Formats: sequence, C-alpha cells, structure tokens
Amino acid sequence: MRRRETQVLDGGEVGAPDSAPMISFDHVGKRFFKKGKPFQALGDAHFDVRPGEFVSIVGPSGCGKSTLLNITAGLMKPSSGAVRYQGKPVAAVNTNVGYVTQADTLLPWRTVRQNVAIPLEIRHHPRAERAGLVDEMIEKVGLADFGGHYPAELSGGMRKRVILARTLIYRPETLLMDEPFGALDAQLKLVMQQELLRLWSDAGTTILFVTHDLAEAVTLSDRVVVVSSRPGTMRTIKTIDIPRPRDVFDVRFHDRFRELQQELWAILQDDMLEGGEM
Ligand SMILES: Nc1ncnc2c1ncn2[C@@H]1O[C@H](COP(=O)(O)OP(=O)(O)O)[C@@H](O)[C@H]1O
Ligand SMILES: [Mg+2]
Repeated sequence: MRRRETQVLDGGEVGAPDSAPMISFDHVGKRFFKKGKPFQALGDAHFDVRPGEFVSIVGPSGCGKSTLLNITAGLMKPSSGAVRYQGKPVAAVNTNVGYVTQADTLLPWRTVRQNVAIPLEIRHHPRAERAGLVDEMIEKVGLADFGGHYPAELSGGMRKRVILARTLIYRPETLLMDEPFGALDAQLKLVMQQELLRLWSDAGTTILFVTHDLAEAVTLSDRVVVVSSRPGTMRTIKTIDIPRPRDVFDVRFHDRFRELQQELWAILQDDMLEGGEM
C-alpha cells in the first residue's frame, strides 16, 4: 500500500526524501579465481535502493550483475566493500529478500499448488493456513484453474507466474529478480511486466531487477543502473521520469521512453563495441 503514498519528486526520488535506504552498495567488488588466477568480476558497485523503489541493473553479459544479486541475497561475500540491508551488513542468507534467480525452475514432480507452498513448508508456516495462502497467491498471478497441474503441463509464461507466486507467497519486503522474463516471447513479456508492476504497486515491495533489455528497464524502473563490461563498474544511474501508473504497452509511445532508451544505449554501446556482449 506504500506505493500510493509515495510520489515521484523533482529528482525522481521515490519514497520520503529522507527515507533510509533499503539496500546500500558501498563500493562492492568481487574477485574470483579462474585456473588459479584471480580476476575481478565486479569492480565497484556504489548506489542505494530506497524502500519501495524499482531499480534495474543493465549491462553486458559477464559484468557481474548476477554476482551482485548473489551478494545481496547473502549467498556470496564481497571481496571488497559491503552490502547493507536496512543499515546492517549482509552477513548470512538474507531472509528478507525473495530471489528469482536466472535459472529458477519448478520441481517437476510437484503440482503448481505444491510448488508454491514450498517456502511455507520450509518456514514451518502453520499447516492450516497454507492452502488458503497458496490459493490466494495462485489466483493473484492468474492461475486459479491450474493449481492441480504439473509444470510440464504449463506454458513457459505460466511457469514464470508460478515462480513469481512461489517467491511472493511469504511476502518478502524486497525482491531480487535476475532476468526473470528473458526467455519469453515479446508479447508474453509485456503481459508479465504488467503483472509485475501491478503486484509491486499493490504490495509496496522494493525491487532490484536485472535485465539486458533496455526497453524493459525503462518500462519498469524508477532508476536504471548501467554497468560496464568486466570488471563491472557503474557507468551511470538514470532516473526514469515517466509518470506512473504506466501501461507497459502505451509507455512505449511516450516521448521520454525513446529518449531514455537512446541515452542508455549510447552508454552501453561503447562497451559492446569494445567486445562485451549483452
Ligand atoms: N562462483 C564463481 N566462480 C568463478 N567465477 C564466477 C563465479 N560466478 C560468476 N563468475 C564469473 O564472474 C563474471 C561475472 O558473472 P555474472 O555475475 O554471472 O555476470 P552477469 O550476470 O552480469 O552475466 C563472469 O565472468 C563469470 O564467469
Ligand atoms: Mg547473470
């Protein structure tokens, strides 16, 4: 509900201007070892995500986007700098976030209902309440008639909806999403984006969203963080000053949409010509 109270202020600031950040990236870097040799995957991520904000990260393949989400989720430690969640350094698995990973899948031997119930089982949520919560969430993502179906009986878009329902069921205050609609065809992508905006604005969730699709980043976000190729270094943060609520189809005809997409592309293009890939 928080969304209705927030407004886009002059600088594109979302939420109360003095609101403490939900996530702070304080010069975060990550080094890995490949064949015994160190290499810097992520250079120096430095930005904040405010409560209720929708922030996207775009950048060439391999620039450390997934690594940054892994660190935020507490699944990996940074080699330098720190990630703070509500002011506290992320030191263990961050249970306040729901994480849709790049390779997220459903358990094929479980029905839609049984898949969506997994987080409740893991958290030992009272058994008596589970079925009601599961049905409510399945309805929210438009799959009310498919609770008894198995993943193999669903389309790609429906499977994405189930993953979304499974992530949202325990009402995480923050969602990390790693290219969640990457494999969908163009029309289905729009439908899922609209759905996500609706769920986001209803729940007041904070979202950190990774995509390689500039149109998707502009459509959804309050701000877009552009990261250069490896070692991923932040090039710029663009405020998306297109009014909300946005219709994912109509927003494409907004003058600012084309301008912003061009500005983002101009920044990314240099990198791609230097050999990075989207
Ligand atoms: N656990 C790991 N061990 C070693 N190298 C890794 C590991 N995770 C990612 N990398 C490497 O770090 C770089 C950044 O990876 P990633 O964060 O997945 O990039 P992106 O999501 O932007 O495509 C890539 O070169 C990748 O191969
Ligand atoms: Mg990735």
